[in-house]
Amino acid sequence: MEVAAIGKFILVFIAFFCASVGIGSSNGIETDKMSLLEFKRAITLDPQQALISWNDSNHLCHWQGVHCRTKNPLRVTSLDLAKQGLVGQISPSLGNITFLKYIILVENRFNGEIPSSLGHLHHLQALYLSENMLRGIIPSFANCSILKELWLDRNNLVGQFPADLPHRLQQLQISYNNITGFIPPSLANITTLNMLSCVTNIIQGNIPCEFAKLPNLRLLYVGGNKFTGGFQQAILNLSTLVHLNVAINNLIGDIPSSIGNSLPNLTVLQLGGNFFHGNIPSSLTNASKIYYLDLSGNNFTGIVPRSIGKIARLSQLNLESNNLEVRNEQDWEFMNSLANCTKLQGFSVAMNLLEGKVPNSLGNLSVKLQALYLGGNQLSGGFPFGIANLQNLIVLALDNNQFNDVIPKWIGTLKNLQGAHLENNIFTGFVPSSFSNLSQLEYIYLDSNQFNGYLSPNLGSLKMLDTLSISNNNIQGMVPKEIFRIPTIMQIDLSFNNLDGKLPIEVGNAKQLIYLRLSSNKFSGDVPNTLGSCESLEFLKLDWNFFNGSIPTSLGNISSLKDLELSHNNLTGSIPMSLGNLKLLQQLDLSFNRLIGGVPTEGIFKNATAVRIDGNHGLCGGTPELHLLACSTMPLNSTKHKLPIVLKVMIPLASLLSLATVISIMLIQRGQHKRKSTFLPSLGYILPKVSYNGLARATDGFSASKLVGKGRYSSVYQGELFQDRKAVAIKVFSLGTRGAHKTFIAECNALRNVRHRNLVPIITACSSTDSMGNDFKALVYEFMPRGDLHALLHLKRDGENNSTLSCITLAQRLSIVVDVADALEYLHHNNIVHCDLKPSNILLDDNMTAHVGDFGLARFVVDSAALHLGDSISTSSVAIKGTIGYVAPGNAPNFIMC
Ligand SMILES: *[C@@H]1O[C@H](CO)[C@@H](O)[C@H](O)[C@H]1NC(C)=O
Ligand SMILES: *[C@@H]1O[C@H](CO)[C@@H](O)[C@H](O)[C@H]1NC(C)=O
Ligand SMILES: *[C@@H]1O[C@H](CO)[C@@H](O)[C@H](O)[C@H]1NC(C)=O
Ligand SMILES: *[C@@H]1O[C@H](CO)[C@@H](O)[C@H](O)[C@H]1NC(C)=O
Ligand SMILES: *[C@@H]1O[C@H](CO)[C@@H](O)[C@H](O)[C@H]1NC(C)=O
Ligand SMILES: *[C@@H]1O[C@H](CO)[C@@H](O)[C@H](O)[C@H]1NC(C)=O
Ligand SMILES: *[C@@H]1O[C@H](CO)[C@@H](O)[C@H](O)[C@H]1NC(C)=O
Ligand SMILES: *[C@@H]1O[C@H](CO)[C@@H](O)[C@H](O)[C@H]1NC(C)=O
Ligand SMILES: *[C@@H]1O[C@H](CO)[C@@H](O)[C@H](O)[C@H]1NC(C)=O
Repeated sequence: MEVAAIGKFILVFIAFFCASVGIGSSNGIETDKMSLLEFKRAITLDPQQALISWNDSNHLCHWQGVHCRTKNPLRVTSLDLAKQGLVGQISPSLGNITFLKYIILVENRFNGEIPSSLGHLHHLQALYLSENMLRGIIPSFANCSILKELWLDRNNLVGQFPADLPHRLQQLQISYNNITGFIPPSLANITTLNMLSCVTNIIQGNIPCEFAKLPNLRLLYVGGNKFTGGFQQAILNLSTLVHLNVAINNLIGDIPSSIGNSLPNLTVLQLGGNFFHGNIPSSLTNASKIYYLDLSGNNFTGIVPRSIGKIARLSQLNLESNNLEVRNEQDWEFMNSLANCTKLQGFSVAMNLLEGKVPNSLGNLSVKLQALYLGGNQLSGGFPFGIANLQNLIVLALDNNQFNDVIPKWIGTLKNLQGAHLENNIFTGFVPSSFSNLSQLEYIYLDSNQFNGYLSPNLGSLKMLDTLSISNNNIQGMVPKEIFRIPTIMQIDLSFNNLDGKLPIEVGNAKQLIYLRLSSNKFSGDVPNTLGSCESLEFLKLDWNFFNGSIPTSLGNISSLKDLELSHNNLTGSIPMSLGNLKLLQQLDLSFNRLIGGVPTEGIFKNATAVRIDGNHGLCGGTPELHLLACSTMPLNSTKHKLPIVLKVMIPLASLLSLATVISIMLIQRGQHKRKSTFLPSLGYILPKVSYNGLARATDGFSASKLVGKGRYSSVYQGELFQDRKAVAIKVFSLGTRGAHKTFIAECNALRNVRHRNLVPIITACSSTDSMGNDFKALVYEFMPRGDLHALLHLKRDGENNSTLSCITLAQRLSIVVDVADALEYLHHNNIVHCDLKPSNILLDDNMTAHVGDFGLARFVVDSAALHLGDSISTSSVAIKGTIGYVAPGNAPNFIMC
């Protein structure tokens, strides 16, 4: 009985035990299943039917992307649904799948937040959520004690850099989010870390020196943030480092000279886009494993290290936008050395201070070279013939230098060339027809050279060409119709040449053409009706030619048109109503033609500021803002017309009273209304080059109609420059007048050193000879559309009633005064005294922001004792005898009379 009882007990016990184990295990896998189904329910779109197998006819361990462990009890250990296009939220139920080790949901479109329940998964080893649309903050993973890899990059995550990371983490990848805050010093405790990537976030502060304590760190990517301070010495202790990216931050100072010795295993080094200065440390050449070196966009000076070729595996070398120099043959030695880098594929020293002829050793560079950028230097001599050896070049950029002579025929042998930037040089001769052998060519920029002769019809055989830009040369003859048959052509700029004849009707073939600019040539004949078939055109600029006939109605079919310029031609007839249908049109210039009849009133014609029709003597009607006579009262053949805006050029001088008022208000305001000035970065800034001819063209031969002001030393013209037809003010110095040369130099010196939102922005300077061989000096500024303060004040006072110009409110006056005070404060801190501040030198842009201009009398204050009063410059002030100086801001008020 007893035995039986015991046996029964044991049986019951075993049964119970087994049952409980059984229930336990089925509960676990059941929970996993419930949790996965919950996960599936939160997915709103499954375009590739990744989850179709997640149904009752299959065991969940056979569902797509679900893996179970083979040991008992059966449990889900991994979920892999990468790249399935899934849309929806990540269900918090995943946090109940307690045995999960791997979650891989990269490259989907999950939105919502990362469920904090994932932080409860004690077995989690890797969580990959890269490339989704996750929002919110990064939850704590501190309890995932064996988590090794956490990838959350390319989402929309916000909040602080995570401070409580699991202690055995090896990879933290949070790049391309909006993470803020600082890198916490506690990171130093995660000694297992071998990769930290947080590029392109909003992280600030110094790069912490705690990194030095991470013995395994191999990959450190912190580029594209807001880090400040110098290059952290501590980083040099990370001798294990293989990739280092600190690019595009606000880092300053020198690069430690021992960098190449301390980090011998570096393969990728990215320091570009900071404010580093000094020489490029020559020890870098000891880091011989580097294949990617980017030092661009800093202020490195001196020469390129002579032994750069010791970095034998170099494949990409980017030194552009620095102040590196080459002045003599020795300084070019790096080029010889670089020949040892037989894997070099990309090389840029563009936008530096290289001078003189490019050595022939250029031709010894690796034949693997695909991209060569030498633009924006002061290089001269003929087309570098070493390039003939670089048969694998894809991009060649020699732009913005002083290369001269003809382009050699052999350029046609660079069979892989896809892009050529040769603009802004002094190349002469024909545009070589051998370009047409370059079947891969996608863009050619030849603008602002001295090419002449005819364009070869062979260019039409370039079946990949997208952009052909040859503006501002002396090209003659007809435009070959073949160009318009290129099936890929999207941009053509042949403006500012001597092209003549008719615009071929074949232009209508170019259905993909977006930009067509033929301004300032000698085209004649009709504007072809076929242009209406260019259905992609957004910019059509045919101004300053001799087109005659009427404006084709078909232009009204080009529904994508944004900018249509037909001014200064010989067009007759009336304005087609169809132009009023162009919904996207933003600018329409029909001025200075011989158009007659009623102006349409629909579409763009409703906006008087977007339409220019002046200089046509027979137009009538239109909206009242155009101020035209009503058509009924105007005989069609009338030549009487009224300009909508009467531009006054010479306006009486300002009274001393108003100037004194301005200055005194300014001084009062200065203390109270200090605004933070925005300094424009001068990083990588190069002055575009412009020739005497270019300026002459821009001002229609310095014609009186372009003159907007005249002073003793200079005349100011309005014009349009460069390919983008930027409105500019061109100040031409009257070098015949004594002192004019001095004012040019003074202004150049002043402007070279200053840049401020309240100073008139200078675009470039031109110092050359005019068509008669006389010295020619000019400065080119951004055009200030609202004119000068003097004119504004006086229009008001004189009661001149002019719609746009007359009214300046008190608030605007105050703002102007504060702007001027800001500019003066900035000048003061740069030790510059303007010496000729007056309302006519205060110019206003479209937003009524004031800009101080005219630095012709400016001086540098070296120390106040060195200032002389009454020399020839001081008497030169045009407007007011003994121009009033200003009280220097700050606590050392040395009153300066200039
Ligand atoms: C997950 O577990 C929590 C309790 O930890 C419970 O409230 C929740 O309902 C569970 N979710 C699912 C989908 O099982
Ligand atoms: C269940 O999954 C199988 C694939 O494993 C699939 O062929 C079937 O259509 C699914 N059934 C339903 C009802 O979705
Ligand atoms: C991230 O920052 C960028 C620029 O600062 C901003 O445009 C974007 O809206 C931000 N995204 C989120 C999700 O906050
Ligand atoms: C690093 O860990 C040590 C020991 O666990 C702790 O005392 C210290 O506070 C930690 N440091 C940081 C910065 O969190
Ligand atoms: C550099 O890399 C080599 C080969 O990968 C390795 O053996 C060596 O230990 C590394 N040096 C340092 C300082 O980490
Ligand atoms: C760059 O360095 C040069 C020479 O050291 C210096 O004159 C210049 O001001 C620096 N420019 C910037 C933007 O820091
Ligand atoms: C480049 O190679 C040549 C010969 O192979 C050698 O003489 C020269 O020293 C090398 N230069 C550098 C910088 O490595
Ligand atoms: C403009 O056209 C008229 C005739 O229509 C012609 O007499 C005149 O010479 C043309 N002007 C120019 C500049 O071509
Ligand atoms: C009128 O045209 C100007 C200049 O193109 C533009 O800035 C402005 O937005 C336009 N106004 C309207 C109401 O479209």
